[in-house]
Amino acid sequence: MDNRSVSHINIASLLFHFLISIYLTNALRCYQTGNFTTNSTYAKNRGLLLSSLASNVTANGGFYTATVGQGADEVYGLALCRADSSSEACSNCVNTTMIDLIEKCPNQKEAISWWAAGDNCIIRYANRSIFGRVEIDPPEIFYNTGDIKFNMEEFDQIWSNLMARLSTKASMGSSKVKFATREADLTPFQKIYALMQCTPDISQSNCNYCLGQAVVQYNNCCHGKQGGGVYTPSCIFRWDLYPFYNNSIADAPTPTPPVSISPHSTNNTISKDLDENSSTECPKFNFETIRLATNDFSYHNKLGQGGFGTVYKGVLSNGRVVAVKRLTRNSKQGRVDFKNEVMLVARLQHRNLVRLLGFCSERNERLLIYEYVPNSSLDRFIYDRDKRLLMDWNMRYKIIVGIARGILYLHEDSQLRIIHRDLKVSNILLDEKMNPKISDFGTARLFPIDQSEDATSKIVGTFGYMAPEYVFNGIVSVKSDVFSFGVLILEIITGQKSNKFRIGEEGEGDLITFAWDNWIGGTASNIIDPILIGAASTHDIVRCIQIGLLCLQDDAAKRPTMASVVLMLGSAVLCPCIVKTCIS
Ligand SMILES: *[C@@H]1O[C@H](CO)[C@@H](O)[C@H](O)[C@H]1NC(C)=O
Ligand SMILES: *[C@@H]1O[C@H](CO)[C@@H](O)[C@H](O)[C@H]1NC(C)=O
Ligand SMILES: *[C@@H]1O[C@H](CO)[C@@H](O)[C@H](O)[C@H]1NC(C)=O
Ligand SMILES: *[C@@H]1O[C@H](CO)[C@@H](O)[C@H](O)[C@H]1NC(C)=O
Ligand SMILES: *[C@@H]1O[C@H](CO)[C@@H](O)[C@H](O)[C@H]1NC(C)=O
Ligand SMILES: *[C@@H]1O[C@H](CO)[C@@H](O)[C@H](O)[C@H]1NC(C)=O
Ligand SMILES: *[C@@H]1O[C@H](CO)[C@@H](O)[C@H](O)[C@H]1NC(C)=O
Ligand SMILES: *[C@@H]1O[C@H](CO)[C@@H](O)[C@H](O)[C@H]1NC(C)=O
Ligand SMILES: *[C@@H]1O[C@H](CO)[C@@H](O)[C@H](O)[C@H]1NC(C)=O
Repeated sequence: MDNRSVSHINIASLLFHFLISIYLTNALRCYQTGNFTTNSTYAKNRGLLLSSLASNVTANGGFYTATVGQGADEVYGLALCRADSSSEACSNCVNTTMIDLIEKCPNQKEAISWWAAGDNCIIRYANRSIFGRVEIDPPEIFYNTGDIKFNMEEFDQIWSNLMARLSTKASMGSSKVKFATREADLTPFQKIYALMQCTPDISQSNCNYCLGQAVVQYNNCCHGKQGGGVYTPSCIFRWDLYPFYNNSIADAPTPTPPVSISPHSTNNTISKDLDENSSTECPKFNFETIRLATNDFSYHNKLGQGGFGTVYKGVLSNGRVVAVKRLTRNSKQGRVDFKNEVMLVARLQHRNLVRLLGFCSERNERLLIYEYVPNSSLDRFIYDRDKRLLMDWNMRYKIIVGIARGILYLHEDSQLRIIHRDLKVSNILLDEKMNPKISDFGTARLFPIDQSEDATSKIVGTFGYMAPEYVFNGIVSVKSDVFSFGVLILEIITGQKSNKFRIGEEGEGDLITFAWDNWIGGTASNIIDPILIGAASTHDIVRCIQIGLLCLQDDAAKRPTMASVVLMLGSAVLCPCIVKTCIS
């Protein structure tokens, strides 16, 4: 692969191979997902597609997507230029990269090239749709060989801050350009320069996620080096100690892209993140249908007892498996209210929330019909003697991040601003790929707490997860959910219940106190589930403990918002100031 040094290293904590380039000039990957034969229809389509990229990319503002062919011979492709390159440089870069890619990947069905020599562009093609989805594999990581000669603690602080701000800025771009550059002063004479860009077809949160992961991967590989970056299929990140980007273009206001976009690039080729609007309908189910589906709410179909009711497994006549929550009957709420609220909650759609499919309100019965999530709940894994062995750090980390994104959506990204109030491991369900899905959200909204009753006697929630201001004063806010999330993090990392915590052979104690004591005493590794030790990056786990403790501060105002939590989880940024104050 050209005249640059490459070496394969295996970062155990991430479980796949990276190519690490000492200094990136250009890099490409011919995927091993299948080959096509010379002279096949796919070969012709690929040729047509790739040759259309260079001629169309500049007219489309530096990002162009196209598809050629049909069915099994359909080729999907895209070209992206670094937003600080001129039109001419952009089109030359795509042209050169295209010729190189055809030469190096003569018969692969899928390939990507990042061309970083001089001008910068990415081109990519595949026999599957690659538009509108975030992909961080394969990453191409590169770094300068020199080491930083600076106080690393101070450097990390400045660097991490810069990266966090920059990824936020870049992801806030438009659906045409998601790009930003930024500088930070290391000393009065030395700046850090950084650049980030996503393919603009992905959503703001996916862009932020991609960049956060790129920063984490860079740090895992190359912390302490004097510059470098990570390129992935969906985003690029680079930093250095000299201005390597074209400031005069980068700082100019984002140009309005031309309106004349080819039909290819707008029709069907870009599929947007349809979290919220894909379906706003909430079908009403007939009580009889659900009674049959659940075998008359039989004991054998019972999945569990959640807040506000019992959950049953059901199979609809069309074969679809669902989870039915039968709400306890004593609610005073009227039918119309119930329906309106269900319609609102049904609009909440996020990959980390259990999807509400419909409802039924007949004969004093109120039923909520949810998608069925096959791998039951998180408590059945992390507290199970055998199953917890399956829960390696990668999986636990993925679950922590997914829960955080789900809560963030409830708090800020959905228009309803839902406070969950009862976040706990048994409310985290796991799908077939062990992705977490929060359940029982919105039920608190469906059943508002009766204000006339004494706050303390009406506390909903679960002991061990509740924030002090909630327990003592009945104050509910997004920050009380943040507290519960902090408990969740500690439980996932320790593999133990917060309210039945075993300390070695010494008997039971309180998980939160134990965690604080060890954090303050500098023995954070005592908090980690022994099965995780050695198998993963302890550094990453300790970082997560720190985020957990930030969420567990007694002063609600000091706890981070879920937006900061998501950012901290995705990057190396941390607030150094955690304060534990005792309530007397
Ligand atoms: C892409 O090609 C590979 C190899 O021929 C095939 O297994 C895969 O199903 C194809 N993908 C799509 C979406 O057609
Ligand atoms: C595809 O072709 C490459 C050579 O171009 C070869 O190394 C590889 O084994 C082939 N892969 C498959 C799945 O046939
Ligand atoms: C592809 O087509 C060219 C021109 O028609 C022909 O010369 C060549 O033999 C063909 N190659 C294969 C592998 O069929
Ligand atoms: C895109 O490229 C193709 C092939 O070069 C060309 O025929 C077509 O006119 C281009 N479309 C636009 C909108 O420029
Ligand atoms: C691409 O480069 C070739 C020569 O390498 C040139 O003939 C062709 O015109 C270029 N195409 C575009 C669109 O710049
Ligand atoms: C930066 O962009 C400006 C405006 O297009 C251009 O005139 C200048 O030559 C570029 N500078 C570099 C170093 O590429
Ligand atoms: C393009 O979009 C229009 C309007 O959304 C739609 O009617 C048409 O069928 C689409 N064309 C193709 C080729 O999908
Ligand atoms: C969702 O639908 C509403 C109303 O139809 C619309 O105003 C809003 O722009 C849509 N949001 C997205 C992300 O498409
Ligand atoms: C999760 O569920 C899927 C499908 O039911 C199953 O194949 C998989 O083994 C389960 N995973 C674990 C870790 O139990």
